[in-house]
Amino acid sequence: MKQIYLFANWKMYLDFDESNILANALAGEAEKFPTNVKMTVFPSALSLYSAGQVLRDAGIGVGAQNVYWVDKGGYTGEVSAQMFQAAGCEYALVGHSERRHQFGESNHEVRQKLEAILAAGLTPVLCVGETAKEREEGKTEEVLEIQLRAALQNLAWPKEDERPLFIAYEPVWAIGTGNACDDTEACAVAHNFIDKLAVELLPAAAVIILYGGSVRPENIAGYLKCENVSGVLVGGASAKLETWLDIAKNAVLPLPAPPLIKGREK
Ligand code: 13P
Repeated sequence: MKQIYLFANWKMYLDFDESNILANALAGEAEKFPTNVKMTVFPSALSLYSAGQVLRDAGIGVGAQNVYWVDKGGYTGEVSAQMFQAAGCEYALVGHSERRHQFGESNHEVRQKLEAILAAGLTPVLCVGETAKEREEGKTEEVLEIQLRAALQNLAWPKEDERPLFIAYEPVWAIGTGNACDDTEACAVAHNFIDKLAVELLPAAAVIILYGGSVRPENIAGYLKCENVSGVLVGGASAKLETWLDIAKNAVLPLPAPPLIKGREK
């Protein structure tokens, strides 16, 4: 059975109390999740410790939304990858488009963060994606290649390391807009481009590709049909219990039967 990854990026949608309430509610449902579904939540840095304890006890993974690459020092407002690891995190997002575009994070900074995530023993979830303008100009592959090369080229990946590298394809224009990328297009980008380039750049790592951008209960099955897409990274719809549970439910619905082969039709 295909292993499915459901990653919930709570962004800055929930305050401390709301995060703890949702974490407890999810933990209460965790026994119902099928064994081939691995769920991970990325709460805000503030809520991560308390919500994380509840989630981990229920078998749900916990990740940081952003890290700083220096372990300790005079960096007001930052939290290092090592500190997240010590607080019980297993995963960390890096290069999310909101970090790149709203906070001016460069490819070089993404690389430094990725290296710090690996050094701290966390599993990275590298986010890549093109803007609407870049897509209109036919530059999707060019942009993805720049982002992937900057992050992965000559990256030291210890041979015995069994951590996978998650790559989330999140087209910027699909994030928080309700305008999800068509699953055929997302599959083509994941299959024809991201997977091939990531394997070429980092042959030692097991690469797992996710899709992110306006994932909803109604469209999740389409992404999971793709051979090279093993899960989703969800923002807004993951911060509401009912929607998130519907996403989880629909992620494991049996795929539609293949079309009848001509000649066998009655
Ligand atoms: P939405 O699901 O709200 O579009 O956000 C996607 C995302 O940015 C996940 O990291």
